[in-house]
Amino acid sequence: MAEQIMTHSQGAHSQEKEAAGRAAAKLVSDGEIVGLGTGSTAYFAVIALGERVQAGLKIIGIPTSVQTGDLARTVGIPLTTLDENPEIDITIDGADEVDPNLNLIKGGGGALLREKVVASASKKMVVVADSGKVVPGLGKFPLPVEVIPFARTLIEKKIVSLGASPRLRMRPDGSLFITDNGNQILDCSFGRIDNPPALAVLLSNIPGIVEHGLFIGLAKLAIVGRGDGVEELRR
Ligand code: A5P
Repeated sequence: MAEQIMTHSQGAHSQEKEAAGRAAAKLVSDGEIVGLGTGSTAYFAVIALGERVQAGLKIIGIPTSVQTGDLARTVGIPLTTLDENPEIDITIDGADEVDPNLNLIKGGGGALLREKVVASASKKMVVVADSGKVVPGLGKFPLPVEVIPFARTLIEKKIVSLGASPRLRMRPDGSLFITDNGNQILDCSFGRIDNPPALAVLLSNIPGIVEHGLFIGLAKLAIVGRGDGVEELRR
């Protein structure tokens, strides 16, 4: 745990991530089912929620990854599953890019599939981000696309025909990155995505793509760290 806190506190924009994560954790009320996001910003929200639980807050979390589930257990947040609780009150999650309509690119941490399922089951999705994530248009960050291994090469060709360069995600040690769901990720450089909703439909229609990291119309509020404060963006 101490090691994990150190890792997160040393990254770029760490102060902004912590400010955003902690501000979002304050939006959670007693008795709520809470979707717990993945990544270095959502991390701070989970830590802050753990502190509130220790102080008496009664919530039940649904984690978006194995990693977040482990963290939530460590900080004492009781967990449930979507089978037991298919309706989530509020989800707090990070993003790799946030555009002016609060459309997002997510999946830099590889958890996009469960993140999108959880976001889509939530009454409210709150994005937490450092100021570097806010962009005028999506696409500088390569779009993560989760694919079943059986169809990978075929999907790579289809994505090239859409104008992008897909790159198979590897771990830092050179081994293949495998998601919590046993799939692979193609990081697809599209350049500026002029029409995110249209691209989202095109990708969703390719068989073998399990999910892509375009989150369209899911977030209504983004809490963005700015210096040591936060800014709220709404849609
Ligand atoms: C995890 O799969 C992602 O969607 C993260 O939410 C996203 O990559 C943002 O992560 P950071 O908060 O670590 O930048």
